[in-house]
Amino acid sequence: MNDYTIDNDMKRVLIREALSKLPNSFAPYSHYNVAAAVLTASGKIYTGVNVESSLLSCTICAERNAIFSAVAEGDRRITAIAIVGGLNAADTEDLEEHDYCTPCGVCRQVMRDFCGDPKTFPIICAKSAYDYKEFTLDQLLPESFGPEDLDE
Ligand code: THU
Repeated sequence: MNDYTIDNDMKRVLIREALSKLPNSFAPYSHYNVAAAVLTASGKIYTGVNVESSLLSCTICAERNAIFSAVAEGDRRITAIAIVGGLNAADTEDLEEHDYCTPCGVCRQVMRDFCGDPKTFPIICAKSAYDYKEFTLDQLLPESFGPEDLDE
């Protein structure tokens, strides 16, 4: 299960990594820009942004892009995720006027597959390095289905 804790300094590092990628969000259809940064058990950070397609159903969220980048490098255990975003947020220096961006249901499920213990896995929804809300995955995806249900 999840043996890792993340201190406040590392939370801020993760948030800043996500904020630095927000301008790269590609959302010409919804104009809702999102960036995410995941910390892995190896101590590395991987980032992702949402990328939309003209075939809208091909769109992929920032959170899954970040997680799948980690998996592509063989880093399969994520220990925290930071998420930033909002409507027309790619060019803003300041997200204070926006709501916190919380992850969609599909991304919550994918986190479940790579996070260890959902009761401790932190999801950090941030406006800035000093203004964020934190949830555990279990709070956002209670009574979840996961790898153990398939004996993995
Ligand atoms: N989106 C994310 O990337 N992450 C979320 O947590 C919420 C939604 C993206 C998908 C789509 O490009 C746009 O935001 C609007 O749904």
